[in-house]
Amino acid sequence: MNKIFYVTTPIYYVNDKPHIGHAYTSLACDMVARFKRLDGYRVKFLTGTDEHGQKVAKTADIKGLLPQEFVDEISQNFRGLSTILNLTNDDFIRTTEERHKKAVCHLWQTLIDKGQIYLGEYSGWYAIRDESFYSEDELIDGKAPTGAEVEWLVEPSYFFKLSEWEEPLLKFYSENPDFIKPEGRRNEVISFVKSGLRDLSVSRSSLKWGIPVPNDPTHVIYVWLDALTNYIAAIGYPDNLDQGLWNNSLHIVGKDILKFHAVYWSAFLMAAEIKPPLSEFAHGWWTNEGEKISKSLGNVIDPLELVDEFGSDAVRYFLLREVSFGQDGNFSKLALINRLNSDLANSYGNLVQRVLSFVQKNCNGKIPVCSDLTHADQILLQHVDDLLEKLRKCIDNLELHHFAENIWQAIFAGNKYVDEQKPWVLKNNDVSRMNTVIYVLISFLKKIAILTQPILPLASAQILNQLGIPESQSYFNSIDLSIKSGDTLPIPQPIFNKV
Ligand code: MSP
Repeated sequence: MNKIFYVTTPIYYVNDKPHIGHAYTSLACDMVARFKRLDGYRVKFLTGTDEHGQKVAKTADIKGLLPQEFVDEISQNFRGLSTILNLTNDDFIRTTEERHKKAVCHLWQTLIDKGQIYLGEYSGWYAIRDESFYSEDELIDGKAPTGAEVEWLVEPSYFFKLSEWEEPLLKFYSENPDFIKPEGRRNEVISFVKSGLRDLSVSRSSLKWGIPVPNDPTHVIYVWLDALTNYIAAIGYPDNLDQGLWNNSLHIVGKDILKFHAVYWSAFLMAAEIKPPLSEFAHGWWTNEGEKISKSLGNVIDPLELVDEFGSDAVRYFLLREVSFGQDGNFSKLALINRLNSDLANSYGNLVQRVLSFVQKNCNGKIPVCSDLTHADQILLQHVDDLLEKLRKCIDNLELHHFAENIWQAIFAGNKYVDEQKPWVLKNNDVSRMNTVIYVLISFLKKIAILTQPILPLASAQILNQLGIPESQSYFNSIDLSIKSGDTLPIPQPIFNKV
């Protein structure tokens, strides 16, 4: 089997600074990318910025900057997010880059050549904030369903023949039941398509900040057709599309932008005779202490501040553990602190600390010799032997919250094992058994620390280091390598601090 994997975040609008929503999607992608790399896959993890459109032009104007100056500046904040959140993206694409513009123009031309785009006239309610048109019956109290202000717009526009793709899309969804996840969202998309698709306006003549329509520079290309193309632009389209990556591609997006991906993007691709991605997953939205997050409420959560206060591992752990991936979630500092204290400091940290300081005090700082295993030893080791397979399922089904849940069940069993085996008693009456218990615990911890890498990359690396495991043996294919009795372990340092 070819082990290839391509995962993408949405590309983020640059009209704002990064917030928790951006951090969340990126962290989820990062966790999956890390897991796959550890599992021996060739991985490409892509993120980037969406830099065209009216919203950006307006914000730049307010700040008295040219759009290009403005996006150059703000895009850096998103690039910087990778360092702050310890993301392992292999690439960062900007829609103002040449490789991207070339891909968009090529896709446009392909759609023209295939008779999928025609010139017409558009009139409708346009919401700048959403970069989207709404029909009269979609408006609620004169505003977009998202609450955004709308204005009436009439202009010449190119249209994509989306209406021709209703049947092919429905057929595609039914032949590829795993294309849209989770299930509930898939059903929503299907009902949306079944309710009827109208041709889609794919250019703006009232706007200058965008990619000009090939052969008609009085228009720029609609920002979504522009933005979506990033996913193939980054892997060689049009000259050299990496089919291996594309055939194994996953787009992780927020629920609000699933329609653009599952419907529009799929239709554009099918019309250009490119297969849609392998799958798309829509995650839920975070509220802050029970309230919708919005600039006007002043409750936007800055990932930078959170990481400053708690560290990137802790933020990652909380966001990807606390809420079922796919559901909405509520952010609360208290819940975050509780998680850190109970799961990280009291459970995982405590287990590591107990074992490693015991080794220093009672085993001369060396991995002791292992004698015959008892039933209890075997049961504990079994907890970790089954784990990798379970975690593979969590990752493949994007049940990211179950990932930590499964590992922490084993950690819980580890702490219980220490309490029951009482190595501090054995040290006085059965040193050989004490040695075996400690050997079992170190073997157990080694496997745990290899498996926690995707969700706690920094802490896991520290723990593996304290267990004397070199980086080259931190991959899943080394998980069953035996630890060596007699190896000296470094003096342990505390990993997680209680808050
Ligand atoms: N530029 C488009 C995407 C183009 S992809 C070809 C865009 N950008 S965005 O910056 O507005 O949003 C990026 C992501 O952040 C979306 O997936 C969105 O769902 C997510 N979130 C924004 N606020 C959020 C929360 N409060 N909670 C979780 N995610 C949220 O849309």
